[in-house]
Amino acid sequence: MGAGTGLLTDSLVARRLRVIAVDPSASMLAELAARHPDVPRVVAAAEHSGQPDESADAALVAQAWHWLDLIAAAQEAARVLRPGGRLAMIWNQRLLANEWQRRFDAVQPDPRGIDAAQGAAEVSPSFFGPREEWSSTWQREVSAGEYLALYMTHSPFLVASADERAERLRRWRALLEEHGSETLTEEYATYAWRYTRQL
Ligand SMILES: C[S@@+](CC[C@H](N)C(=O)[O-])C[C@H]1O[C@@H](n2cnc3c(N)ncnc32)[C@H](O)[C@@H]1O
Repeated sequence: MGAGTGLLTDSLVARRLRVIAVDPSASMLAELAARHPDVPRVVAAAEHSGQPDESADAALVAQAWHWLDLIAAAQEAARVLRPGGRLAMIWNQRLLANEWQRRFDAVQPDPRGIDAAQGAAEVSPSFFGPREEWSSTWQREVSAGEYLALYMTHSPFLVASADERAERLRRWRALLEEHGSETLTEEYATYAWRYTRQL
């Protein structure tokens, strides 16, 4: 659900799982199709996936649960999952490891999707067992250009006016110049939640 361009799908396919990619955006799914031509795709919202009752072992949502109508999406997952099946969500959340990264982020705060998703807990008891949680941290080296480019894919940038975008880019480029390095280390926390469909 919310399969997007298929980053999570990469690891599901690598495990030889049978995957159906559901996303309301045909253009996102076109990117997924280029990576995984054999994965069936459904242009649909997670709240109305069109999948048969009790047809799936798992409903997985990477970096998208907070976009959904949480009650409707939980009900839809409960309908589609077999008893004992799993509904699971995962988020990568950038950590602001130092003062420079905090200043960079302050230009346009990184949306904390997991915070917006807390409401899912309200609906889960009707269909699902208690939430199980897992988290970990990790880091990677990126070029200065990649560091900036990721912020430019975030929804607050995409919906900003042309003037606002130009101003944010000006401030970010000044900060990158001040930093001076070709590569930067990004730290992330990964949070995963899992619910089991009640029998
Ligand atoms: C950050 S992307 C998800 C990344 C993707 N899960 C991956 O592994 O590459 C967010 C996705 O949520 C999708 N989305 C937005 N509203 C949705 C809805 N109501 N139901 C399902 N997906 C939705 C968007 O079309 C977008 O593809």
